[in-house]
Amino acid sequence: MSKVALTRPLPEAGLAELRAAHTVEIYDPAIDGDADEDRLITMAQDAEALIPTVADSISERVLAASSHLRIVAQFGVGTDNIDLDAARAHGIVVTNTPDVLTDATADFAFALLLAAARHLCAADQFVRDGAFQRWETTMMMGMELRGKVLGIVGLGRIGRAMARRALGFGMRVMYHNRRPINFTIARRLSAQYVSLEELLTQSDVVSLHCALNDESYHLLDAAAFDRMKPSALLVNTARGPLVDEKALVRALREGQLAGAGLDVFEQEPAVHPGLLDHPRVVLAPHLGSATVEARTAMARMAAEAVLAALDGAKSIPHRVV
Ligand code: DGY
Repeated sequence: MSKVALTRPLPEAGLAELRAAHTVEIYDPAIDGDADEDRLITMAQDAEALIPTVADSISERVLAASSHLRIVAQFGVGTDNIDLDAARAHGIVVTNTPDVLTDATADFAFALLLAAARHLCAADQFVRDGAFQRWETTMMMGMELRGKVLGIVGLGRIGRAMARRALGFGMRVMYHNRRPINFTIARRLSAQYVSLEELLTQSDVVSLHCALNDESYHLLDAAAFDRMKPSALLVNTARGPLVDEKALVRALREGQLAGAGLDVFEQEPAVHPGLLDHPRVVLAPHLGSATVEARTAMARMAAEAVLAALDGAKSIPHRVV
């Protein structure tokens, strides 16, 4: 039996096989406090497998701390929290959990889009505050989606799922990627490839679905907001640092863009105070993949990768490194 360390509790339904084969140690930040680098090192020290989440920074120091560590099985699809070069250098396998969270995340991105487009959170607050005195003809008028342009940055799995939802609402889809995707797939989604500049200029809603890396850091900065329509909305369910939050707050305050639906933040879990009081900003605590179905499948997938790695299998599912 090997020690498998989890940096936080995961849906138990996904862990049964792992528990049967190995010693599973679960760290719970709600009880034990936030897992800083030293805590992560303590967790990893005598473990052969580590299952972290997007909220844990798996640095070179953490990876170097354990001579036993054979696999880091990320509970999530993004791996920007893991030093992949260091993992490679230490011969540690890294895996992730793609596909199973695609629909959950696209659903949530669309929910944020609708909520921002129709003032849903402000409306809810209005009723709770007892302010609903009479039906009004021009109160909280929002944006109708039919015929509007959705600009998707990153037409990967989640971006495509977002495009399918947008088509159902009668939106036109434009996208930007590092390079155009397969023509047949793009045609099926009626998705038109454009430059980032054109996407920003033409879109009524911009939705981010790309990975965070050195190239995409602050992809949306002050110059990007300058290009956007004053009536446009921004949706971000990808990663906070894709957006220069200071520039976003300024753009919202100055009316360069109308609103935003944000599930991720630049200094997560901290939220820029300027986002908290804007009536057309809808905020969520990184819930994109938070469905019972997706999170259970993610736990199962991470567990399967650990079982394969500790078994010495030649092929480890969803291997990134
Ligand atoms: C991911 O998987 O990368 C999400 O951000 C968390 O589910």
